[in-house]
Amino acid sequence: VTSPQNPPTRPAEKPVGVPVTNRQVLLRARPVGLPRAEDFELVERGLEDLSLGEVRVRARYISLDPAMRGWMNARRSYIRPVEVGGVMRAAAIGQVVLSRHHQFHIGDTVVGMLGVQELGVAPGDQLLKVDPSVAPLPTLLGALGGNGLTAYFGLLDVGCPEPGETVLVSAAAGGVGSVVGQIARIVGCRVVGIAGGASKCRHLIEDLGFDAAIDHKAPKHGDMRRAIEDACPDGVHVYFDNVGGDILDAALGQLAVGARVVICGAISQYNAEGRVAGPSNYLNLMVKRARMEGFLTFDYQDRYAEGAAQLAAWLAAGQLVTREHIVIGIERFHDALMLLFSGDKLGKLALEV
Ligand SMILES: NC(=O)c1ccc[n+]([C@@H]2O[C@H](COP(=O)([O-])OP(=O)(O)OC[C@H]3O[C@@H](n4cnc5c(N)ncnc54)[C@H](OP(=O)(O)O)[C@@H]3O)[C@@H](O)[C@H]2O)c1
Repeated sequence: VTSPQNPPTRPAEKPVGVPVTNRQVLLRARPVGLPRAEDFELVERGLEDLSLGEVRVRARYISLDPAMRGWMNARRSYIRPVEVGGVMRAAAIGQVVLSRHHQFHIGDTVVGMLGVQELGVAPGDQLLKVDPSVAPLPTLLGALGGNGLTAYFGLLDVGCPEPGETVLVSAAAGGVGSVVGQIARIVGCRVVGIAGGASKCRHLIEDLGFDAAIDHKAPKHGDMRRAIEDACPDGVHVYFDNVGGDILDAALGQLAVGARVVICGAISQYNAEGRVAGPSNYLNLMVKRARMEGFLTFDYQDRYAEGAAQLAAWLAAGQLVTREHIVIGIERFHDALMLLFSGDKLGKLALEV
């Protein structure tokens, strides 16, 4: 995120070939349980003038993130809820089409919280300029963007993996989990991933270099604790949790002494209509003198440049493999969102608009 040294003074630059209307996805109702198509509405509106310091961006890829489900709820968590009738909040990558900020020019590629819409507006100091020659746009949004930074800081700063240790990660074939596992491998750990389905598990081992994979949808792995025990005979030194629920409970049962449990997210609980299921195995933290700690990626804003540079270097060196699942068309927002919960996608999920 850039912070301007001087107040923006440039006049607005003239847009070229930019639509005069904007299609947006609004939150129409707060979902109860799994979001329904009727909870959202696609509308077309005219464009408003920019204020001084603002930038208009033609979005190309909109990030679909599990956190969006939490933002639809009325209660505030780490960020205020999306208002009913407001544009659904989302990160996106695209090109500047109009700028009233002195550091941004037409054609610049930027990432920011631009919402689920074709033309987003944000203050320039809340946008991050990225270099489109480094990687394709969906990769800049995913493995080199929010997902990769989440993996980088969550694993290295909170999980503190040491060479030779066993790192277990859930939702391992997803945007965050796939990078967590690969960083763990790069720093010399034994890596075990949990994913849904045989082909995802094969992908973890054959394409991403994981040492072992557990299919949480396979009937024989109904006993998740046994499956983790078999795959992690020396215990789990770092468990990077993306899913919560029963899988978190099972992982807590197989911790090594001094283990670190990183609470990144709990997608299995995001649509819970009643109480969120908490871990019952937590006393094993005492038995194993282990710790469990949550984190938020945006607390590391000061170090985004460090994380992004390292991830880009691993990508360039062929050490980081990335996958993106792209759904085309803003009108398919709800269908695409559902893939996060069904798991019918591989890698980072994004909407091309
Ligand atoms: N703390 C932070 O600052 C921060 C920042 C970004 C993301 N996150 C969290 O990181 C996690 C991963 O996010 P992502 O964007 O990378 O999503 P993702 O992993 O690409 O997609 C979600 C995956 O979760 C799995 N899943 C869905 N429902 C499940 C269930 N009931 N039980 C087990 N697995 C389930 C599915 O994979 P399978 O098919 O393999 O089951 C699905 O593909 C989320 O919990 C998210 O909230 C946290």
